Amino acid sequence: MARKISFINYKGGVGKTSLIVNTAACLAKLGKRVLLFDFDTQSNSSIWLLRLERWNKINAQGEGAFFSIFEPGTAKV
Ligand SMILES: Nc1ncnc2c1ncn2[C@@H]1O[C@H](COP(=O)(O)OP(=O)(O)OP(=O)(O)O)[C@@H](O)[C@H]1O
Ligand SMILES: [Mg+2]
Repeated sequence: MARKISFINYKGGVGKTSLIVNTAACLAKLGKRVLLFDFDTQSNSSIWLLRLERWNKINAQGEGAFFSIFEPGTAKV
């Protein structure tokens, strides 16, 4: 059974992104299968994990982005 862990805080700069990325990495290193959803419009977790160059490409083209499944004809799964 999958477990869902959320990191939410209305205050800025309190370590949400750092905590979620490092927690996900630690769980993955322990052999857990981890799926990290980045709901933050700043996309900092995505940029951190994908690296800026790859994130810029996805952001510019939409290819490979999760939202592309909502645009008929653009999804490449
Ligand atoms: N445990 C920690 N000890 C010291 N500094 C930390 C720690 N966790 C995060 N930081 C630093 O605090 C700053 C803010 O961290 P982070 O970006 O993770 O916060 P955030 O809550 O996601 O911010 P935002 O609201 O802008 O998205 C960063 O410079 C980060 O390196
Ligand atoms: Mg953040």
